[in-house]
Order: sequence, then C-alpha cells, then structure tokens
Amino acid sequence: MRYTIERILSRQASSQMKDAAAFRFSVAPMMEWTDRFCRLFHRALTREARLYTEMVAAAALVHGPREKLLAFDPQEHPLALQIGGAQPSELSLAARFAEDAGYREINLNVGCPSDRVQNARFGACLMREPNLVGDCVAAMKAQVAIPVTVKCRLGIDEQDTEEALDRLADATVAAGVDALIVHARKAWLEGLSPKENRHIPPLDYPRVYRLKARLPSVPIAINGGISTLAEAKAHLAHLDGVMLGRAAYQNPGLLIEVDWEIFGKEPPVADGMAAARAMRPHLERLLASGIPAHRLTRHMLGLFQGVPGARAYRRILASEARRPGAGPEVLDAALARLSRVEEKLPRDKAA
Ligand SMILES: Cc1cc2nc3c(=O)[nH]c(=O)nc-3n(C[C@H](O)[C@H](O)[C@H](O)COP(=O)(O)O)c2cc1C
Repeated sequence: MRYTIERILSRQASSQMKDAAAFRFSVAPMMEWTDRFCRLFHRALTREARLYTEMVAAAALVHGPREKLLAFDPQEHPLALQIGGAQPSELSLAARFAEDAGYREINLNVGCPSDRVQNARFGACLMREPNLVGDCVAAMKAQVAIPVTVKCRLGIDEQDTEEALDRLADATVAAGVDALIVHARKAWLEGLSPKENRHIPPLDYPRVYRLKARLPSVPIAINGGISTLAEAKAHLAHLDGVMLGRAAYQNPGLLIEVDWEIFGKEPPVADGMAAARAMRPHLERLLASGIPAHRLTRHMLGLFQGVPGARAYRRILASEARRPGAGPEVLDAALARLSRVEEKLPRDKAA
C-alpha cells in the first residue's frame, strides 16, 4: 500500500463526501454492450451520467491481461469499473489496480445470475452470503480511496426480500460501502436464464424505497425497468439515484436529455445528428488502428428511433460498417439517409 500525502488527502475527501450526487443518474453495466466504444458514444450524449464498464472478473484482473481489461479513454469519465468476485484478497488487489488505472468507482456485482458466475460463487448468489460481501467491501475499502459500491438484487430464489436486502445492506454499510444500487427484483438462480431474470421476476420499487427510508444516510440508487426520464425523476423523489440499462442502450437518444432534465446543465450536443457526427474522429482513429468501424457503430443503431429514415440509417450502419477498411464515410452515408428523408418530406407533401 502506498501512503502518500495525496493518497491520504484523497481518502479524507472521499470519506467526507459520501457523494450521493455522483450516483444521481447512471447507465448500467452490461456485458457485451457497455464496452469502451459504447461508453465513448454515450459520453457524446451526456457529460453528467455516470458510466459503468461491463463486469470484469477480479481473478482476470489479478492473473490475466490486466492492462487490456482496464483500458479506457479518459473522455469516458466519470467512469466506474464493475468487478465480479468473492475473495476479499483478490478483490482488494483488483480494486488497487482499478484505482491506479484511474477509475472513479469500483462496483461489486451481486446481481448476475448466470451459471458461469454462480459456478465461480459470485454475482447474485452472494445475496445468500451478506457477511462475505461485507468482508469483500471492507477489503476493497482498505485498499482504495475511490468509492466502493455494490449492485445487488432484492434477493434470490425463496429468500424473503425484506430480510435478504436488509441483511445485505447492513453488512455492506458496516463495511463502509459508499452506495448501493438495487435492481428492484429478485433473481431466480434455478430455472430462469439471465435474460429471463431481467423481466420475469416482478419489479418491487417500494421495497427499495423502504430500504432508503431505513438507511437515510446511505446513497441508494434504483435500477430495473425504468424507460423514461419522467419515470427516473419520479424515483428521484424517493432515492438518490437511478440507473438505466436497456432503455439507455436501445434508445440512446434519451441520454441527450439527461444533463438538462436531471442535472440542470447544458447537454454536450443539441441532437442525435450532432452526437453521431461527434463520433467521426473516433471512427478515423479506429480505422487508423485497424479496428473495424462496426465496433463503435453497432452501439449507435438505436439513436434515431422514430425519425424518418432511421431504418435505412440502421441498415447501412449494420451492414457497411462491417466491411474491412470501412471508416467515417459509412456513418456519413447512413446519416445522409436521415437528412435526405427529412429534407424530402416537405417537398413530398407539397407534391
Ligand atoms: C446485455 C446485458 C448485459 C448485462 N450485463 C450486466 C453486467 O455485466 N453486470 C451487471 O451488474 N448487470 C448486468 N446486466 C443487468 C443490467 O445492469 C440491469 O441491472 C438490468 O438490465 C435491469 O435494468 P434495465 O431494466 O434498466 O435494463 C446486463 C443487462 C443486459 C441487458
């Protein structure tokens, strides 16, 4: 452990803050979706939303290609790393690597129900082991100055959600957790796939509100099934934060409203067209480094929902951007279909 003055000062600052405002709006960690290219795109839409990485296994950070797994562009900040694991010593080492790499938060996954994760005894099955989760949080807190947070479910399988969530929360709060993000439904570890576990177990938002009423000084954010900023604002009347997953990814245009609607700040771009154009230099960079344009453009397919020409935009991006050597001209071509259709509309009507 390094005991530099900067480290001690930043540790003091972070403990003074318990900064609930930092968690006010975030985009959820999503495997295969919120990779670094997706996050660059989301950052063009909102400066204020907190972004999360896909889950990275702590063991992979300790034993695997750490630099590659932790790589991000500083433009992505504020950025949190989500890790999966259940061994305090491994997690504390992983947390140290994450802090050194420049992440602003470490989030422990206590919500993933996949078989692979269960076999490794982490993710949602940790809802049964609140004391172990507390030990994991304590071990990470002892290593780093940045916030350590937990993303969990209401409970799993036959657990009573009143008891299971309180026990998990109490153990992590005792360990100094900086915020809890609660996916407001149970996970069923037997019989449901991860995808089914995102919509079949019923949502129970009032359960999360009760948790906040019981632990008023702990920053608590809610996640699950929130699809509009109006819904997000309604939750913010009860809680410190909202986290959107599928809605933010599938309809990223809603992120353009976040800075104004949630934070009262000017958005970075006026509209989807400006956000898409802001991706051009990134596409040039990808092309120059031999990375297919598709790695970025695949995350942009949902941008123009409901706009005339959106289908042609999606078709061009989805097919052309996969071609070897494809670059920003593919995006230009896709965007041209939108504007051409938009421009054509009044003339068509006039005719
Ligand atoms: C494709 C996909 C991948 C996901 N991967 C993760 C993950 O790595 N870590 C995690 O905590 N949750 C993961 N989730 C769950 C989301 O973070 C979120 O909790 C869930 O989708 C419910 O929120 P929503 O209704 O706003 O989408 C994933 C969800 C999706 C759709």
